[in-house]
Amino acid sequence: MSHVYHRPELARDIATQLLRPGVLEQGLRSGLFLFGPRRTGKTTFLLHDLIPALENAGALVVYVDLWTDVSADPSTPIHTALRAALKCLQSTTGDLLSRLPRHRNPDVAATRLSFSFETADLGTPTGATIAQVAKEIVDQAKTDLVFIVDEVQHMLTSGAGLALMRAFKAARDAVNASPNTPGHFIFIGAGSHRAQVVGMTEGNQSAFLGATSIEFPALGEDYVQSVLQILSQEKVKVIPSLLVASQSFALVGRRPEELLRALRILQQYQPPEADHYLPVIAAALKVAAADIESK
Ligand SMILES: Nc1ncnc2c1ncn2[C@@H]1O[C@H](COP(=O)(O)OP(=O)(O)OP(=O)(O)O)[C@@H](O)[C@H]1O
Ligand SMILES: [Mg+2]
Repeated sequence: MSHVYHRPELARDIATQLLRPGVLEQGLRSGLFLFGPRRTGKTTFLLHDLIPALENAGALVVYVDLWTDVSADPSTPIHTALRAALKCLQSTTGDLLSRLPRHRNPDVAATRLSFSFETADLGTPTGATIAQVAKEIVDQAKTDLVFIVDEVQHMLTSGAGLALMRAFKAARDAVNASPNTPGHFIFIGAGSHRAQVVGMTEGNQSAFLGATSIEFPALGEDYVQSVLQILSQEKVKVIPSLLVASQSFALVGRRPEELLRALRILQQYQPPEADHYLPVIAAALKVAAADIESK
């Protein structure tokens, strides 16, 4: 990826609400579900902003994207990610503990954890439950464990995925309800299917009933301004005004790729024509995108 526009303040705010919630934010510990339209930057925000903010605040983070292999049963990549994290935590050279800020976890940052279960058995009928795994990690690392599942709606597609959803809930309850726990277990799900993602926190059948679902805060004018600044540094010929570029960004659904595509097409016009043609190009791209989505 060439240029990532970072949103450290937004990430810090979400991380603080998750890890050190005020009295009105306690519900976030029950689980946070983020939904937003396709290609608006959810994964980029999770990887480049939220995970660093969570780690910087002292949490251990495990991330898995169910989109990387949609043909696989969702439980497979989740167990693989968990096994990889456990392996990291058991090794002195693993980077998971060493990424923790030492001033927050001085005694654990340099040690390795040892578990009472076989890591390799995880996901088999005789393997440890996620609740047991989460509890041992939190108790030994003495910090919060955050599990992030991107494209979380895929967990609804199989019996094993649904069972894992219940296992995550059991892990949350086992860790968070334990008196004097040195950390919490926090589950974050992200996805583009609004109804399915929100549905995971509603309805009596939902494992995460009562968890919080929020709309992913889409990129705004500050992102557009950063793009225009780069264009000007790169001496690009045809550059629109911030106002028109922001309106066009909104028109294409706040999708960075579509804005860049529109700006590329704009280069065939003359500089004074920029503000006139960019909205026309954006409108055409919007129609083309709607055509593809409706097919
Ligand atoms: N903060 C950002 N700065 C620059 N480019 C970005 C940013 N966020 C997203 N993009 C670009 O937008 C495109 C879509 O981003 P991303 O994959 O993060 O979105 P998504 O919402 O997770 O998409 P999907 O619905 O396919 O999972 C990518 O090409 C990415 O590089
Ligand atoms: Mg994504």
